[in-house]
Amino acid sequence: MEQRIVNIKIDGKEFQAVEGQSLIEAAKNSGFYIPTLCHFKEIYPPLGTCRVCTVNINGKPDTACTRKVFDGMNVEVNTPDVLDNRKAIIEMLFAEGNHYCPACAKSGDCELQRKGYEMGVAYTRFPHLFEERPRDFKSDRIFMEHNRCILCKRCVHEVKTSKGDNVFYFQNRGHNMLVGIDYEKEKELTDEEVLRAANLCPVGAIIAKGKTIAKPFGDRKFDDDKNIKWIEGKELDIKIPKDGKKKIVATTSLAGCFGCHMSLLDIDLGILDIFELVEFNKSPLTDIKNFTKECDIGIIEGGVANSENFEVLKEFRKKCKVIVALGECAVWGGMPAMRNTLPLKDCLEEAYLNSISSENNENIIPYHEDLPKLLNKVYSTKDIIKIDYFIPGCPPNAEHIWKVVKNILFGAGEKVAYKEFKYD
Ligand code: SF4
Ligand code: SF4
Ligand code: FES
Repeated sequence: MEQRIVNIKIDGKEFQAVEGQSLIEAAKNSGFYIPTLCHFKEIYPPLGTCRVCTVNINGKPDTACTRKVFDGMNVEVNTPDVLDNRKAIIEMLFAEGNHYCPACAKSGDCELQRKGYEMGVAYTRFPHLFEERPRDFKSDRIFMEHNRCILCKRCVHEVKTSKGDNVFYFQNRGHNMLVGIDYEKEKELTDEEVLRAANLCPVGAIIAKGKTIAKPFGDRKFDDDKNIKWIEGKELDIKIPKDGKKKIVATTSLAGCFGCHMSLLDIDLGILDIFELVEFNKSPLTDIKNFTKECDIGIIEGGVANSENFEVLKEFRKKCKVIVALGECAVWGGMPAMRNTLPLKDCLEEAYLNSISSENNENIIPYHEDLPKLLNKVYSTKDIIKIDYFIPGCPPNAEHIWKVVKNILFGAGEKVAYKEFKYD
């Protein structure tokens, strides 16, 4: 059949496209990139489940992967509103699941993580749900981690036995929907087909036991992205102040592993330049425990797990003009927040009563009025106070931290390269 050429507009510019062509394809041919997650070249018709490809079509939000071009189609791809909508969808996917990138076997190969970096998601504007979802180890070859599943339906649609039977299926409805495995059908897959299923999953929900981590970190699909993208801000070459007026910095470690402070020190000899520029006030680096003056910047490591963390964080907000949440735990709750899907009582019993390190007859849960009270949940710092800047990473590297801190202190804003922007 003869192809009909139609006129379309993308972000105000006129283009021609083949009528009936997918909008994703037509936009790509016209030089416009529309991010996708559930979309997969072999799957037709498109699934349209993730909504990440949302654009405005003739003034209304719609998914680009499911729409075909027509004459007079007017598309907005990169307007500030559309970009922010899309970013919000990615943030929502992070907040809905339990995504602990530093502990995830798919890190570096994960399409959700990649979209987060690409869109500059340094934190989510939504509260994390921390739903309790199962982990399924029953299959010999697949570990199904429901906490990371974004319900994109790729596996349900695409993974079949040689007889054409489905291996994965949706169970339950609405909020409780999960991807189930038909264990009998799964046994009919070859090892290569199991690995393909794991690769087809855009996130780390389907893990091929012993295979997914065969490719080392640092050598994964998105680890060495050639298209380095600067997210925002401008570079600043800071000269040592001649007037000797140093900026005042405070740091603290809440519920974290102190790794971010170690990373602060990893700047090696660069620390000498830093000491020319800044003076530390309250900080575990200097052993100064209390604020003695108002600070220009407060750098917070760790999430909020107990009453003391809560008080310290509030005090930082009062005493510091600018607050930076540094590292995975301060930004999202991080590793300590892994306990959030379990009742606090169970965590305490596991740690103090059932732990193999417990001494005979000394199985007690510590209690004393001077000990800070554990909160039922671990919170990200932004759940408690207003945070001005976020530097995710576990830990972020030293050069990156100091570059951001110096840029904030000396008024240039953040400048983050894709390569430096990490959640793990
Ligand atoms: S790497 Fe991907 S799937 Fe794994 S925790 Fe991070 S975002 Fe989730
Ligand atoms: S398991 Fe993976 S492929 Fe299947 S629906 Fe969940 S995220 Fe998508
Ligand atoms: S890529 Fe279009 S809805 Fe997922």
